[in-house]
Amino acid sequence: MKNISTEVLTMGKEVYSRSCSTCHTYGLSGAAKLVDFDYWDRVADKGMDTIFNHVKKGYRGKRGIMPPKGNCFNCSDKELQASILYIFENIINNKAGTKNI
Ligand code: HEC
Repeated sequence: MKNISTEVLTMGKEVYSRSCSTCHTYGLSGAAKLVDFDYWDRVADKGMDTIFNHVKKGYRGKRGIMPPKGNCFNCSDKELQASILYIFENIINNKAGTKNI
């Protein structure tokens, strides 16, 4: 997950703030926060194809239900992809104690 362009991150931030943050910033309905590093390490191990599929189609895990497209029904694949990259970029920054965009 290196060298993600600022353009993609900006798009991802927009989608994340609008659709994902309600659950993933505050840990609502079983969603992991972006500081739950062990959880996200395990997610990362699944690989981007599986992760993208789970976000697009929805996913029921041990902790709860990830709704299809994070309820962003008019989001394109590109926007969903960007929001996932934004999440992982944030996790890396949170781990390192560096600033997020
Ligand atoms: C209504 C709450 C909610 C919203 C909104 C939401 N999520 Fe989730 N998400 C969850 C929950 C709950 C899980 C945990 C499922 C589990 O592991 O049990 C999850 C899991 C995930 C995972 C891990 C999937 C996997 O394969 O393990 C990713 C990636 C993710 N969310 C990304 C997003 C993105 C991107 C958005 C916005 C487009 C979003 N989520 C919006 C609740 C939400």
